[in-house]
Amino acid sequence: TTLLLGQTLAFTDDPFRADPVGSVTHHTHGAVAVDAGRITAVGPAETVRAAYPQAQIIDHGDNLILPGFIDAHVHYPQTAMIASWGKRLIDWLNTYTFPEEARFRDPAYAARTADTYLDLALDHGTTSMCSFATVHPVSVEAIFEAAAPRGMAVWAGKTCMDRNAPDKLRDTAQSAYDDSKALAAKWHGQGRASYVITPRFAPTSTPEQLSALGALWSELPDCLMQTHLSEQADEIEWVRDLFPEARDYLDVYETHGLLGARGLYGHSIHLTDREIARLTDVGAAVIHCPTSNTFIGSGLFDMGLARTIRTGLATDTGGGSNFSMLRTMAAAYEIAQLRGQALHPAQLLYLATEGSARALHATDIGRLIAGATADLVVLDLASTPVIAQRHAQADTLWEAVFPTIMMGDDRAVAQTYVAGRAML
Ligand code: GUN
Ligand code: FE
Repeated sequence: TTLLLGQTLAFTDDPFRADPVGSVTHHTHGAVAVDAGRITAVGPAETVRAAYPQAQIIDHGDNLILPGFIDAHVHYPQTAMIASWGKRLIDWLNTYTFPEEARFRDPAYAARTADTYLDLALDHGTTSMCSFATVHPVSVEAIFEAAAPRGMAVWAGKTCMDRNAPDKLRDTAQSAYDDSKALAAKWHGQGRASYVITPRFAPTSTPEQLSALGALWSELPDCLMQTHLSEQADEIEWVRDLFPEARDYLDVYETHGLLGARGLYGHSIHLTDREIARLTDVGAAVIHCPTSNTFIGSGLFDMGLARTIRTGLATDTGGGSNFSMLRTMAAAYEIAQLRGQALHPAQLLYLATEGSARALHATDIGRLIAGATADLVVLDLASTPVIAQRHAQADTLWEAVFPTIMMGDDRAVAQTYVAGRAML
């Protein structure tokens, strides 16, 4: 057994549905006991030390020990084109995204990018993610093969698109079905890998492809399904033109078997009341991608959805402008402010950990509790002179944490653990 000493913060409730301050248990001098990759105890340092007198001690001082961050929607193949200037969604995809994704037919390029991306994620305290790959099956192999030696729980799937994309990036309804099925058979449940059925979004799939993937999902009910929903006004209009018989954007997915409790709907910004009601009824998850939504100019997500819909937080890199879930929490705070709501720091931390875990139906990560896998991030709450100065003025836990949420980056990440192993 190893004991990690530091401040600990664990959620006992969902801070969007209960009082945020009352939703956490905090120990100023806390300890996390880790054995064989799992958390075996969390509590006041004295109590945990008494229970494990022989344990090896790693003292993180006043640093804050949290569950590792979980990025619930990312495009790892877009790592090299992050921060591309001047376009909105459809032009951005055609100008920057598709040419970069075309490079992933080369297995060596895919492997190199997967390695780079996972190291960046760990540097930023992100221990798990749910990623789109490219249309190439080899891009899925690359991310799972890179995740395995790091011990990381990664969700990923082949991005399917059979229209409105360049020739070299198009599959077909049949090949999307066959390739996705083969990848799921090979990888789903292999170690900590999970396969995700991944139609890119309605405009790049024919109705036949959407139906084929809907059929595959019903054959693989354990798998998650991820896509994009109602991100930008032009996109929604395009979906209306392409699917004139659909009641709305979500209805396109529903009529092709792509709406369910294990569905993850990225962005979900410009939803109708009917769409919100359907997502709520079926128990689907929406994923908030705040830095992407400002960077590509998409709009302001309604955080009020988190009261009734499982909601994850995500970078959406490279539409998102940063790999850091701290920067992403800051952007979520700012967007909520523009909508008249001040998110509590507890709500922001929840979104990046347990909120994303719940969106992914993952029960062994995102929580600082006995029995969970020891995927952890250790935050230095005084990582720069300005943050340190604000931290020194703090009277409460939340005043101490909030400057790091708003101004912190990878310098605030003192350590990242994956299944109990220090990664930095
Ligand atoms: N919609 C369809 N594909 C994408 C993508 O790669 N990024 C974002 N942000 N939105 C999308
Ligand atoms: Fe995306």
